[in-house]
Parts: sequence; C-alpha cells; structure tokens
Amino acid sequence: MNVDGKQMRPIWFDNESKTVRVIDQRRLPHELIVQDLTTNDQVIHAIKEMYVRGAPLIGATGALGVYVILVQKGNQGADDAWLKRECARLRDARPTATNLAWGVDRVMEKALNASEYGARVAAALKEALGVVEEEAVNCRKIGEFGLSIIREIAEKKNGEPVNILTHCNAGWLACIEYGTATAPMYTAFDAGIDIHVWVDETRPLNQGSRLTAWELGKHGIRHTVITDNAGGHLMQHGMVDLVIVGTDRTTRAGDVANKIGTYLKALAARDNNVPFYVALPSSTFDWTITDGVKDIPIEERDPDEIKFVQGFCDGKISSVLVPPESSPAANHAFDVTPARLVSGFITERGICGAGEEQIMALFPDKKAD
Ligand code: MRU
Repeated sequence: MNVDGKQMRPIWFDNESKTVRVIDQRRLPHELIVQDLTTNDQVIHAIKEMYVRGAPLIGATGALGVYVILVQKGNQGADDAWLKRECARLRDARPTATNLAWGVDRVMEKALNASEYGARVAAALKEALGVVEEEAVNCRKIGEFGLSIIREIAEKKNGEPVNILTHCNAGWLACIEYGTATAPMYTAFDAGIDIHVWVDETRPLNQGSRLTAWELGKHGIRHTVITDNAGGHLMQHGMVDLVIVGTDRTTRAGDVANKIGTYLKALAARDNNVPFYVALPSSTFDWTITDGVKDIPIEERDPDEIKFVQGFCDGKISSVLVPPESSPAANHAFDVTPARLVSGFITERGICGAGEEQIMALFPDKKAD
C-alpha cells in the first residue's frame, strides 16, 4: 500500500540480496524500521515478538520462513528429517492463527517433493512467493465483495457517513495488501462513499491505535480512536452502522477467534441490531474443527505486556509501569465469538452466512481431515 508515495508491504523478498525483509511493527507508527530475517531463529523471534503479526501475514512469514530454513545452513536443507524438525519449530511460534501452520506446511510439502538441494530451494521460494501473491489477491477480492455491504448501508443513510467499528488491526499490515476487515473500507472510500471508522485501541499492544489508525490516516480515511470499552455505548446511541473485524482462526461451523475483546463487541452488536461481519481469506478457516471455544488454542502472552504501556516520548519509544509492580496480570491474547453472533463472512469467494452449511456451500472443495 502507499506510504508517503512509496509502495510498501509488511513482508517482501529482496531479489538482489535474496533476503526476506519485514517491517518491525513493534515500532510503528513512530518509527518505520525494516528487519532482515536470515535464520529460522530470527523468523520465529519476529513472529513471537510481533515484528510481524496478523493471521495472513503470519502465514506468509511462515511460508517464506521455510525458504529461510533451507538457505540458512547451506545444503543441510537436503536432509528431510532436519527440515521437518525446523519447520515444526516454526509452526509452533504462535498458536492461535491457523495460517501459520497452513503456510509452513504448504511450502514444506513442495520442498520435500524435490530431493536435489537446489531444486528444493527453488520450489520453496516459488511456492512461498505464490502464497504472498495469492493472499494479496484474496484481500483485494474481500474488499470488492465487502463493498456491497457498505454501499447498501450508505444508500439507506442517504449521504450520511457510514460509521464502521473495527477491533485490532486487520489491515494491510496484518496481511500483504488491503487487509481483511479494512479492505471493504478502502474499497468503499476509493468508490467515493463517505465512511468514518471507530478504531478500538486494542489493549494491551494497541494494534488499533498504533497500526489501524496509522493505516487509515495514510489513506485519508476519517477515523477516531476509542477505548476498547466504548463500542457498546456508541452502538446504544446509533453511532455505529456496521462492525467488521478480522480473525485468526475460524471453524468450519463459523466460530471466530480474534483479538481479545472481539466477543464483547459481537455481544453489544447483537444487543443493538448492528451487523457484525468477519472478513477472512480461506487460509484462516480451520476445516478440521467445529467448536471454537473448545478447540481453538488461545495464546497467553507475557503479563508484562499488560503491566507496561509503550509509547513515544521525548523523541524515543519507551515503556512505563501502570499497576502496582507486585500485582499479577493475565494476558489472554484472543477470544472466541460464537457463530450465532456473526452476521456473515466476507471471503475471497463471496459473502456467506455464519453456519457450517453456508460456509461449506461457498467452499465445497474443503473437507474435514
Ligand atoms: O496478536 P495479533 O496482532 O497478531 O492479532 C491480530 C488479530 O487479532 C487480527 O484481527 C487477525 O489476525 C486478523 S488479521 C487480518
């Protein structure tokens, strides 16, 4: 996407140096720092520490990570058992987004099919770059399909702005281009529809106030950062027309894991008759499970992410302690919104209702393992 006149993606392969590069999202919006990933340990660290984050981007990083594994130690990558072990370590870097295992496994399989080392590296790179481009196209299509939902609301509002609420960052920074939840916003804005976005700050790491607000601002989209708890109040007062969020893993029955706090937004939306849509590429469906609350692993992160708040002060990024140092904190990173609270899914194949039958009608080729 366009950042101050320069086309940027959160991950890319630099052809000249044959290096995988990422934006270090921990530093945004205050510093735009690019990091090279040249070993599997670095790729795993970048995923765990959230230089890269967001389900489709984690998947793309996992895919390119298999290439990194293959080239980091010369032709050791010709050893099947070693390659599988390294890929297993990479697959486990974060537990909730299903895209990570999907991206790693897809590229690893292609690599294993080629036994000669050079062919293996070439096959892995080709497949990984394919994943990256496919996800960009998927997000573009999500934007095109999602536009119809925003347009319909805009027509009913007769020229009044459409107020959309979103949680966390499901923008291009979390994907490759366009984003998932933000793709319909970008498409609607580019089509001349007047939109305004309520941006949940998304504690503790503030993906909303740091990343979504930055993205929307760079695109010229009107937005307002709100506390994570403000959505219900705004909905009660008719100030939200539509909620669109992304997801890290969605079951074949339509249960949605997304950033902690999403479930409460869905409850408030249902109570106030506000449509609640989830935008996702097919790589985020976990076709093997139906019950999200029971079967989706929820990441628990370092409690210090809650206790210390990071911000920009006196020209540098620093963090400060908020609660008493001795108070324990619990950092559940995601929650599950049951399918019954979801109005529909916006996917690269179109829009469908949030039930197993509707989902499988759109994806008849996807079978449970
Ligand atoms: O912990 P994060 O920042 O990786 O969480 C990201 C989210 O929860 C996003 O909403 C989700 O991955 C969808 S991204 C298109």
